[in-house]
Amino acid sequence: MCYVQAQPFPRERANSKDSAFFAIAATPPMGWNSWNKFGCNVSEKLIKEIADAMYQSGMKDAGYQYVVIDDCWQVGRDENGNILADPERFPSGMKALADYIHARGLKLGIYSCAGSHTCQGRPGSRGYQFQDARQYAQWGVDYLKYDWCANQGQNARAAYKTMSDALKECGRPIVFSICEWGENKPWEWGSGIGHLWRVTADIRDVYQCVFDWGGVGVLEIIDVMADLYPYAGPGHWNDAEMLEVGNGGMTRDEYITHFSMWCMLAAPLMAGNDLRSMDPQTIEILTNKEAIAVNQDPLGKQARRFMDMGDYEIWAKELVNGDIAVCFMNRSEDVWKLDHDWRKNAMYFIRTANFRSNTYTVRDLWQHRDIATTDTTLKTDVPPHGVLMVRLSPVN
Ligand code: GLA
Repeated sequence: MCYVQAQPFPRERANSKDSAFFAIAATPPMGWNSWNKFGCNVSEKLIKEIADAMYQSGMKDAGYQYVVIDDCWQVGRDENGNILADPERFPSGMKALADYIHARGLKLGIYSCAGSHTCQGRPGSRGYQFQDARQYAQWGVDYLKYDWCANQGQNARAAYKTMSDALKECGRPIVFSICEWGENKPWEWGSGIGHLWRVTADIRDVYQCVFDWGGVGVLEIIDVMADLYPYAGPGHWNDAEMLEVGNGGMTRDEYITHFSMWCMLAAPLMAGNDLRSMDPQTIEILTNKEAIAVNQDPLGKQARRFMDMGDYEIWAKELVNGDIAVCFMNRSEDVWKLDHDWRKNAMYFIRTANFRSNTYTVRDLWQHRDIATTDTTLKTDVPPHGVLMVRLSPVN
């Protein structure tokens, strides 16, 4: 059994100029992105239908708001260098699409790349950063995901800072999503430049696996995120990648683990499935308001893995009003017969005095009911590849 004690970390203090920037993403951004399910097959018809589905399915009510078009919306530049959307797939143009999305109380996101070309060979923004940012603002874009293909050996911080400066001057608040796959440790320089930064290669719809052609499973991402908690906070988030919930590659328990841990890790929640045809189980997971409240907690803390017992892990996240979210994660293929004595395993790194003297209610965030208090030993089964995610609230 291994106990990991949190280290003190010098938190960067935001200056007043930064605070307006940070406020654009005071809690982890929530929305949908086209890439995981649709790849290059994007169109205004799809995006409008997704926006309608986001509203009708209860996703908007649960907090999702950004509808992000990933790669392949762009086909070239005109004689003045202005970026052009594919006229066949987006015949009404981006401004009309933004208006459609805004009329539904949602926000539009778009994609570009710091290199000469995007990962699918479309025009990138290198050399056009200010022109593109102004164009996005004119269209009414609210979110930019900015990739790292064909980067031509640029310095990553400088490349992302250039687009960040362009967005800060474009006259419209735009969430800036840094997507350089964690290659240049963006958590060390991303705060104040972007609002979120990817920390790994692309997610695949699997619980655990590293693909030699690029791509990682849920557990690999969680393991990278584990050490990065000092870098997350309001306006600056570690991006654990878009969600795969609902895409069919994992079991229900694995998807619950995926979603619960993204909530614990204060990771952006960008759904990556087809919102137009969700089964009840997918809706139940993606719209779990109690889990989402953990993700959107205003303190903006990222969970820490404070007990690592090999196949079994216990994660904790401080929440407002002295609450604590705790996630028991079972990596094994067998049931974890949990027998947890809260006092013995007191979370000594979180408000130790309070925890030792207080009683907390223990609320199961997937069963949506109080299951115990911390005065009694918690005995329950955690399914294979599953979690028990609870919220502790002080009683006295
Ligand atoms: C990269 C990114 C993905 C996606 C594709 C689009 O692989 O990491 O998230 O945006 O490019 O081409």
